[in-house]
Amino acid sequence: MTYPRTVSLRGKSIEITEAKRAARVAEMPEIDWIGDRDLRDKVIDAWVAALEAHGFTQIGEMKPSGNYDSMPLLTGTQCDHMRSVCRLAVKTAEEMAGLFPNFRYDRDILIAGALCHDIGKVWEFQPDNVQRWKADRHAVGFPSVRHPGYGVFICFAMDLPEAVAHIAAAHSAEGELLERSLENTIVHWADVTFWKTVEAGGQFATTDTWLDGLTGGVSGKPKSAAL
Ligand SMILES: [Fe+2]
Repeated sequence: MTYPRTVSLRGKSIEITEAKRAARVAEMPEIDWIGDRDLRDKVIDAWVAALEAHGFTQIGEMKPSGNYDSMPLLTGTQCDHMRSVCRLAVKTAEEMAGLFPNFRYDRDILIAGALCHDIGKVWEFQPDNVQRWKADRHAVGFPSVRHPGYGVFICFAMDLPEAVAHIAAAHSAEGELLERSLENTIVHWADVTFWKTVEAGGQFATTDTWLDGLTGGVSGKPKSAAL
């Protein structure tokens, strides 16, 4: 890819410059672990476009929580979460590969998928969106689209591979309705490990003042086991 280049996302024209790309790699250095240059470029560009189209200047501006209405981390950012999930996922795969000579996985897809698994939070964690949904929860739904769903939109709009879109789509509870890929299985459990370890280790804040304490704690949980 040559830069600068202009992309369109949600009707907004976004210029992707080398400076904006460098800022994304500086915030999320694991992007440089992706060996394939084209895939690496697409991950960077997806983050540049996703943030800018939704009014964020960096990943760490988003609330550092699993769901928009769950408790935030005591310390650390939303970017730290995604970086940590990536590092946990890579360690898991390397451990298995070291033990089982026939174990095969796609390292680039694993890294790209882990770094993009929560990219849809630019929609679900966008303060104006959450306040709009909260004002009339039956108008378009509350939230209208969770981050896995919106993550699929961004991945395909930014021409990321289907395998990465699948990880965004089904790393969370949505993945219980299908069979996850190998790389998504690793990311899913890395994500679970991260949040469960945070919980057990007392690393959640005890109060949440984001948007006047919108801590319903119900997002991401099935409303009915029968459906
Ligand atoms: Fe996550």
